[in-house]
Amino acid sequence: MERVILTGDRPTGRLHVGHYVGSLKRRVELQNSGAYNKIFIMIADAQALTDNADHPEKVRQNIIEVALDYLACGLDPAMSVLFVQSHISELCELSFYYMNLVTVSRLQRNPTVKSEIQMRNFGESIPVGFFTYPISQAADITAFKATTVPVGEDQLPMLEQTKEIVRKFNSVYGEVLVEPEILLPDNKACLRLPGIDGKSKMSKSLNNCIYLSDTPEEIKQKVMSMFTDPNHLRVDDPGTVKGNPVFTYLDAFCSNEHFQHHLLEYKNLDELKEHYSRGGLGDMKVKKFLNAVLQEELEPIRIRRREFEKDIPEVYNILQKGSCIAKEAAANTLSEVKRAMKINYFEDKELIINCMRP
Ligand code: TRP
Repeated sequence: MERVILTGDRPTGRLHVGHYVGSLKRRVELQNSGAYNKIFIMIADAQALTDNADHPEKVRQNIIEVALDYLACGLDPAMSVLFVQSHISELCELSFYYMNLVTVSRLQRNPTVKSEIQMRNFGESIPVGFFTYPISQAADITAFKATTVPVGEDQLPMLEQTKEIVRKFNSVYGEVLVEPEILLPDNKACLRLPGIDGKSKMSKSLNNCIYLSDTPEEIKQKVMSMFTDPNHLRVDDPGTVKGNPVFTYLDAFCSNEHFQHHLLEYKNLDELKEHYSRGGLGDMKVKKFLNAVLQEELEPIRIRRREFEKDIPEVYNILQKGSCIAKEAAANTLSEVKRAMKINYFEDKELIINCMRP
């Protein structure tokens, strides 16, 4: 069987380091591994509109920001199809048919939808499109017959929902759709990188993100203001590593080479953690090291981004070309789906013959 990747992001802002360690970095590695027949990377503008109906301009402007972040991280249009969701109208058609295979109560139980409804204070006024976005996400994934979906942990319930739709469709209409596998980051710290304030998740509205496009000064300023162990008042005090975002970031980003480049007194992160826990290691020193690590990791990304920013029409061109390729793939699946559902009335000669009267 072909190995196909589909994944994507909502264009509601520039991408941050949480996106990077949670998914982007892995996508680039998978792309470069050569182990996949096809790779589709989608800018989910239609999904972004499900809770931004009043702000189409925000979504519109962020399509280019996300595209620039993708290219900056090393997604290569020669190897990966970069495309815009709303261009693929076939996705709406698939969603329409999948809607009949999902119950309202099943959607109400989707933990991601539940917590997002709370986060957005929708109360009783949940837009129908938002409520049903797990179904449209199933259309995104199945339209490309994706076998592998590299995403963050928060997307697990979406994948579960997709698998249920696939099983239901295939059992009712015949084997057409492919059940996808989720691919989560191996590194636990990358599953859910906290914001610089130590809050559970990086989020634009909480103003606690480090963006891939931040300047070196912004990165430094954010790292220096990071939340750490509040009980670690004096350098000599023993410090807590667990739940300390500075160490979570180091877990996510740093390798032994970073110690050789920036902090020769320690061989690896375990030694640094041990010293911090024992006492005698100040927050400042750890933050300076984290800053050096982040600067090293993010500099090449920022430089590549600046290059692509010089030719915005070319970036749109890449998206348009990708969208045409993606549309063709989705159209193939849609026609298989309609054939399986036997709603391809005008193509089906047998149907016409059988209805003919003597
Ligand atoms: N829900 C994803 C997010 O919030 C974006 C997305 C839409 C997606 N469709 C997808 C991700 C299909 C993976 C597969 O970032």
